[in-house]
Amino acid sequence: MQGSGRPPYREEADQPGQPVIKPVDLGPIHIPTPVVLSPMAGVTNWPFRTLCEGYGPDGLYVAEMITARALLARNPKAFRLCRFAPSEKVRSLQLYGVNPAIVEQAAQMLVDGDMADHIDLNFGCPVPKVTRRGGGSALPWKTDIFADLIARVVKVCSAAGIPVTAKIRVGIDHDHETFMEAGHIAQEEGCAAVTLHARTTAEYYGGHSHWERIGQLVEALDIPVFGNGDIWGADDALDMVRQTGCAGVAVGRGCQGRPWLFGDIKNAFAGSQDRLDPNLGQVCQVMLRHGRLLVDFYDGDERMAVHDLRKHMAWYLKGFPVGGPTRRSFMECESLADLEARIGDLDLTLTLPERVRDKPRGRIRYAKKVHLPYGWLDSRTSSHEEREQLFGDDPMDASY
Ligand SMILES: Cc1cc2nc3c(=O)[nH]c(=O)nc-3n(C[C@H](O)[C@H](O)[C@H](O)COP(=O)(O)O)c2cc1C
Repeated sequence: MQGSGRPPYREEADQPGQPVIKPVDLGPIHIPTPVVLSPMAGVTNWPFRTLCEGYGPDGLYVAEMITARALLARNPKAFRLCRFAPSEKVRSLQLYGVNPAIVEQAAQMLVDGDMADHIDLNFGCPVPKVTRRGGGSALPWKTDIFADLIARVVKVCSAAGIPVTAKIRVGIDHDHETFMEAGHIAQEEGCAAVTLHARTTAEYYGGHSHWERIGQLVEALDIPVFGNGDIWGADDALDMVRQTGCAGVAVGRGCQGRPWLFGDIKNAFAGSQDRLDPNLGQVCQVMLRHGRLLVDFYDGDERMAVHDLRKHMAWYLKGFPVGGPTRRSFMECESLADLEARIGDLDLTLTLPERVRDKPRGRIRYAKKVHLPYGWLDSRTSSHEEREQLFGDDPMDASY
């Protein structure tokens, strides 16, 4: 996949309405099908990425955010998140941090240890414990810190030929939008691409994302823009490209319990109508495989693996008419044997009803309130006091 210099995946559309979709190059990384598994904390570890990549071998599969400080402290959980399956073609990690010097050091550590081929920077997290420290989606508001952080990471990574990308939101809220400026800064400071989750922090995961903002960013930038937000099925991915002109799409919640969505999007981008529509038996085989991979991820700790798998079980079963008591019984699984026994009780010939296919799944709520450091919105640049306060207590463990 890397540096293969292949011709464009699709120069011309051969169907009416088929958008022109080309491969995207991030430095030496060639992405024939420009679809990205959007980082999701607690979800996009190597077992899940492996399943997704199996269906869409030409995309980019990003790990979940890793806190720069935790990495520097050699926190074992952070290190676990840096592992990859041998089958993964691109080792793609996402770093999170507020203090540019700390994120720079973490990037240097990844470079020195040859731990990644691509680094994405998290400027999209809306979680209060992150934004109240000026991190995630709050950071682009302070253009000086934002630019400094990107510049430092790009410098460290470019020396090793590692492309850096930035993942941003539209802004804090619609009165405080940051995406346009953030996109320009990311481009000027050397990012290879930007992903825009077209919601504000205040919108959290509620409502529909504002795809028109993606189109505006595409117009304004020269580097590739990946559009993100509300891709629930392959047709949504086509619609987003058609409506915004984005170079590619990033998919989060839509693939929860449906790793085959990457196969569907690959087909759709190639102009094919073929879609995967597994019945419950086939879905359960994927679920079991996912469970076995998680046992490896947790170094043989089956109980931990099955507990982690529980949320995925709910997503895999979503939409199948199996009934509430059955769903609840899966949430009590303690081992893979328990899981197999529960699968054995299902009608494996069930198929997903048409009306629930490609429908929203996962988190869908608005933020109750955006939490920011005191006086954050007063100025677009940071004061000396603000920086001292912020960098004094970078969180060690910021999870979504
Ligand atoms: C459970 C969960 C965890 C997430 N973790 C991360 C993360 O670690 N880093 C990040 O940049 N975005 C994270 N996100 C945001 C997603 O990457 C994505 O931007 C968002 O869900 C919108 O895309 P979607 O509509 O396709 O889900 C997370 C989202 C969810 C639902």
